[in-house]
Formats: sequence, structure tokens, C-alpha cells
Amino acid sequence: MNITLQDLGITSGDVILEISYLVAAVLFVYGLKLMSHPETAKKGNLWAAAGMGLAMVTTLFLHRDADGKTIGMTNALIVVAAIAVGSIAGAVIARRIKMTAMPQLVSFFNATGGAASALVALMEYSNPDNSSALVTLLGLVIGTIAFSGSMIAYGKLDGKVGDIFAGWVKYFNLFLLLVITVLIVYMLAFDLDPGLQTTLSYVLLVLALIYGIMFVMPIGGADMPVVISLLNSLTGIAAAMAGFIYNNEAMILGGIFVGSAGAILTLLMCKAMNRSLLNVIVGSFGGGGAAAGKEQGTVKEISLSDASVLLSYSQKVVIVPGYGLAVAQAQYVCNDLVKLLEDKGVEVKFAIHPVAGRMPGHMNVLLAEADVPYTKLVEMDDINPDMPNTDVTIVVGANDVVNPAALDDPSSPIYGMPIIRAHESKNIIVMKRGMGKGYAGIENFLFFDDKTRMLFGNAKDTLQALVSEIKEL
Ligand code: TAP
Repeated sequence: MNITLQDLGITSGDVILEISYLVAAVLFVYGLKLMSHPETAKKGNLWAAAGMGLAMVTTLFLHRDADGKTIGMTNALIVVAAIAVGSIAGAVIARRIKMTAMPQLVSFFNATGGAASALVALMEYSNPDNSSALVTLLGLVIGTIAFSGSMIAYGKLDGKVGDIFAGWVKYFNLFLLLVITVLIVYMLAFDLDPGLQTTLSYVLLVLALIYGIMFVMPIGGADMPVVISLLNSLTGIAAAMAGFIYNNEAMILGGIFVGSAGAILTLLMCKAMNRSLLNVIVGSFGGGGAAAGKEQGTVKEISLSDASVLLSYSQKVVIVPGYGLAVAQAQYVCNDLVKLLEDKGVEVKFAIHPVAGRMPGHMNVLLAEADVPYTKLVEMDDINPDMPNTDVTIVVGANDVVNPAALDDPSSPIYGMPIIRAHESKNIIVMKRGMGKGYAGIENFLFFDDKTRMLFGNAKDTLQALVSEIKEL
């Protein structure tokens, strides 16, 4: 006897739906692959978005509930309205956001992803058809932590929220984690009445909200990027859990990709900063270090004409871009300087620190915007051995990533973080507006070094003036 798909209750729509999820997953993977290089990253985003669009459309029209009805038939209006509101808000925010505020935006998006997954879990926990209580409760807790943690990270990056460095926080956090675990075990192990179950799921939600806040509060300074990518990973895991609840392969896979990409990035950043993940999470981070109390010495300035002569007669020049380059939007004029110096026979390279700026790849994106060829961007580990042979290192709006305290001051909060060894080059010119501190909020003795000369001012104006000066030589 032949058994057909119809006999099993499977329609051609179901088959198309499953195939569309498979295609969406392939598009996610392809998109991620393209995103691994700045030149193809934009295309990668579009392919991955196409995969997500496909999964959304087929889910809307082909996914059937227990009564055989599709979402398009039952809740079309609400879904379309939600998509419209989300799309318009997303497009407006993405267009308006400044490049330097990108990490805040990423944090905010993380928060919304976590909140969405937590809400799915909260709603579905009391649904009698839901057979995956463990996954639902984990999704609720992880999504909520990702939400509140990301909102605090957003506030900190935006300068709206301060730090709490009190020693008791880590014990309080451990205690909270213990209570959350015991509560989940209790809810799973006993056959509780539905009213109590719902009440406890709200208690869990509140505990997870508090944990998210208290987990991010003590983390500050240079450790924030690691926390943001960790929260990004948690958002992905929570989305995958929501996918399990609905048995939706596209959601599970999308969540797993985000979760694992975030986890890999977290570990890579820990490595770049020479810190263990545990150290980032439980260790507090702030200003200070022995440098804070040391005699500062004096800084020496250099005139534009002296700087232009020094640069024009050099053989090797290295530019270290940092957050200030992004603030000043000085990438274009920086490229003009490079071309000008190269016309004079000077070899110019950019030294790229993995956490320069405020987001992973920040400097790569900025310099790509100004058409600086990728071959000129040299990673920290590759350029450092060449620093002693460099005639002039120009530090443009960078601070923490060239701070020698990371190498020689064990009491410094950034001790152990690998840096671009600008101090080893023959001359250093630092471009910044004044003696403002970097992200970690600590003093930088590179500025007081005998070989260092300061060129104060907004990086774009200073570079512009330098370009004009060199042209007139
Ligand atoms: P920072 O250490 O933050 O230093 C930037 C410097 O730029 C400041 O000292 C500031 O000094 C100067 N500056 C600001 N605006 C300027 C302008 N318009 N023109 C010229 N200079 C200007 O930057 P960095 O060396 O790139 O290090 C990045 C830091 O951020 C690290 O601690 C890193 O861990 C952290 N962080 C990184 C990320 C990622 S993933 N990249 C994310 C979050 C945090 P003045 O005020 O004196 O001008």
C-alpha cells in the first residue's frame, strides 16, 4: 500500500515551508561568511536579511496552527502592523545613528531581541500545548538577562549610567543565580497548580531582570566590548530557545548562529585584551592604577611646520587610528595625508588594534569608508615587531590602545591588554584635543615620553592643516 503525504496530514504548503527554512539557513550561513571581510560585509548583510525575509513570509502564509489555519488567516493585521512599525523604526534609527554611537545601537537591538524571546517564553509557559517547560523557562531567564543587561550596557556606553564597583555585588549575583536555578528546578520538579506556575514565572522574570542589571553594573572601562558581545550571544541563545518552543527551524538556526557568532567574538576579544572571560565578568574595572598617583611630567608640543618636515623626510610612518578619529570623522583627510606622503616616497601603514574605537572592526569600517586600501591596514601583532624601525608614529585620537601601562604597570586596570607599541618607534606625534582620558579613564604616560610631541586640536582640523602645510613644503 502506498502512503502519500496527504495520508500523513502533510500538505504541499508544509513541504514548501520546510524547504524555505532550509534555504533561509543556507542564506544565513552565506551571509555570515561574506560578513567576515569588510569588502563583502554589506552584501553578506543583504543575503542574511533576504533569508530572514523569506522565513518571515513563508511562516506568515504557510505555517499552520492546530486547527490548520495559517497566521496570515488569523492574525494578519496584527502581524503586518507589527512588521510595519518595527521596520519603520529600525530604518529611521539606522539612518540617523552616528557611526560613533553604533555600539549603543547594537546594545539596544540586543535588548529588544532578548525582550522578544523572553515575552514569547512568558506567554507560552502557561500554554497547555507547550511541552517544553525547561526550554521555556531557560528562554525566559536568558532573554530577560540579555534585555536588562543590554539596556544597562546601552546606558553606560551613552554615559547615562555609572558603575557600581562594590565588592558585595559579585556575591549578590552568585546568590541570585542560585535562587534562579533553585526556582527553575522547583517549577520543573513539582506538579504545581497553573495559577502558582504563572506567578512563579513572573517572579523568575523579576529575578532575571535584577540579575541582568547587577551583572553589567560592575563591568566598565575597556571590558564593555566583551560584555556586549556576550549579551549578543545570550540574545541569540534566547531566540533559539523561542524557536524550540514553536518548533520553528528558521528561528532555532538563526538563534544558534547569533549565539555562536557572539560567543566566538567574545572569546576573540578576551584574547585580544589578554583577559579570561571569568576575569571580565567578576573583576571590576575602573580608573586608577599606579599611574594615577605618579608625577605626570610635562608634555611637549610640536608645530605644524616641524611636524610636516619630520613626516616628509621620514622613510616609514605608521598611523594609529582610535576613537577620536571616528569622533572627528577625520578618515578622509587622513587618507589625503597618506597619499601626499606616499607621493614623497614615504611608506605609510595603519596599525589596527582589535578594540580601537567603540566596536569590533570600527577602524576597518571607517578607513574603508575613505577608500583606504585594505593592504595598508596592518593588524597589531603584525605591525608591532616593526615599530622600532618606524621613523614616526602618528597617533590619531587613540589613547588606551597605545598606553604602555598595559605592559609595565601591574596595578593598572588595563595591565595585560596587548597594545600597539607606539612608544618603541623613533618619534611619536599624538593628535588629540587636549589631555582628555581614553575610555578606561586612566593616564597615559606615552604623552609624557621624551620622544612624543603633541599636536593639539580636533583631529580633522589638525590633519587638514598638516596636509596644507606639507603641500606648501
Ligand atoms: P580611547 O582610549 O577612548 O581614546 C580616544 C581619545 O580620542 C581620547 O583620549 C580623546 O582625547 C581623543 N579624542 C576624542 N575626540 C577627539 C577629536 N575630535 N579629535 C581628536 N581627538 C579626539 O580610544 P582608543 O585608543 O581607540 O581605545 C578604545 C577604548 O574603548 C579601549 O579602552 C576599548 O577597550 C574601549 N572600547 C572598545 C570597543 C570596541 S569593540 N572597539 C567598545 C567599547 C569600548 P581628548 O579628549 O584629549 O581629545
